[in-house]
Amino acid sequence: LFGFNTNRVSGYFDPIEATTEDNLVLPANFKYDVVAAYDDVINPAGERFGSGCDYNAFFPIDGSNVRGLLVNNHEYTTIFQLGPVEGDKMTKEQLDKSLYYQGMSVIEVYRDEKGVWKMDAGSSYARRINGYTKFELTGPARGIPALKGATAVTGTFANCSGGVTLWNTVLSCEENFAETAAASGLPDTHYGWVVEVDPFDKAYLKKHTALGRFNHENTAMGLAADGRVVVYMGDDKKDACVYKFVSKGKYNKALGRANAALLEDGTLYAANLKTGKWVPVTLEEVLKAAKDKPELKQKFASQGDVVTYCQEAAILVGGTPTDRPEDIEISPFDNTVFICHTNNDSHGNIHGHITRIFEAGNDLGALEFDFEIFAAGGRQSGFSSPDNLAFDSNGHLWVVTDISSSSQNKGVHKSFMNNGLFVIPTSGPDKGKALQFASGPVECELTGPFFTPDEQTLFLSVQHPGENTKDLKNPTSTWPHRPGEKMARCAVVAISGFKLGL
Ligand code: FEO
Ligand code: CA
Ligand code: CA
Ligand code: CA
Repeated sequence: LFGFNTNRVSGYFDPIEATTEDNLVLPANFKYDVVAAYDDVINPAGERFGSGCDYNAFFPIDGSNVRGLLVNNHEYTTIFQLGPVEGDKMTKEQLDKSLYYQGMSVIEVYRDEKGVWKMDAGSSYARRINGYTKFELTGPARGIPALKGATAVTGTFANCSGGVTLWNTVLSCEENFAETAAASGLPDTHYGWVVEVDPFDKAYLKKHTALGRFNHENTAMGLAADGRVVVYMGDDKKDACVYKFVSKGKYNKALGRANAALLEDGTLYAANLKTGKWVPVTLEEVLKAAKDKPELKQKFASQGDVVTYCQEAAILVGGTPTDRPEDIEISPFDNTVFICHTNNDSHGNIHGHITRIFEAGNDLGALEFDFEIFAAGGRQSGFSSPDNLAFDSNGHLWVVTDISSSSQNKGVHKSFMNNGLFVIPTSGPDKGKALQFASGPVECELTGPFFTPDEQTLFLSVQHPGENTKDLKNPTSTWPHRPGEKMARCAVVAISGFKLGL
């Protein structure tokens, strides 16, 4: 039972050992139900669940902890969707599948009277958002020449992690978009943004350019002391920056979804870890930094250009290149900010670390900060390559790992075995100690941990099991081991206490 009233993690589950088993292995007294797997029909229109399950967000229906909408990101496709790609060039049919199965799903889920979580494929809310869905652009890059004047764009893909807003919508992050854009002949400046969707409103689809265009991992939203909205974001690329966006206006709860306008106007900052300052990624600062470089003055003619070519702009103004910043979470207890720096083999950070930022005065709107390495990956801690994060109400950080499937179970990664889910207390006697809660199937990474409000259920994605499969007749994983099937499927599971919760 996740929300058990104790401050010691070990008080409520017995940690598991690392394993190479082709299964989702959990501690005693916990079970998982496969809620939706790749290609399952999700609604009466016959739309199908996408591939590469990543971020999850659960939205209760009428306040229920056992029925709600689950929003899931679909990051990419593998051989199980496309079949073998000859000479690295996809056929028309493969390109269509790639655009269809990426994006997002909104599905309706419920726990039945026997305690089993299921998808309700009769749902009127359930729908796909994918490479063919139209989005309105907001913010400084809307309509600029670099985006070919576009005020709306077609499609979202490479949707990695995300975040829930204060007004109950989802932000979904376009991460490694370049490959799909290039293969499909789509303008790459239309992707690499933060997308906003409202699970309860099919017509509400936006891309917020003020949050910058880069290899977006996720968003973590909070409030500055003065009520402005703050959004922390990682850029999952080697030697890339940590960002935060601070809105110009202030949050007003009574306005509900209209607060989304706050994401259209504000200041984007990059972290300078040498000075402990958030440096503005603005046209003014970029032009100052580019004063002896006329070619840059041409490239950066407006704030729209600055957000479009954000990675270059952030380095120009003094953002510090870091080791692949992935998920970021704000501690609900003390406003410290946790960042997974997953790894960077270009300079020997093989197992990554979790950085903790202390904003000046504990104010998320502060422009100065200090930081520490909260936990380091490696043999001593038992985990490598931290990726997505979630907090529980005990102040424990739930951390999934992403050792690439080409490195898993060999060399310096051998002792970690398959990727897992770990629990790390952020205070108390077990602070910083990683205890393993789950181990994923062969060649997968676990992604998108998300609790129901009562913390009796944890949604989790199993992404790319059997990723190294070269021959579909001989897959390296067959999880979730459906009867009669000989292929691996990515899927979302619901984890709950076997006896304790029910
Ligand atoms: Fe899609 Fe950075 O993980
Ligand atoms: Ca991933
Ligand atoms: Ca990730
Ligand atoms: Ca990763």
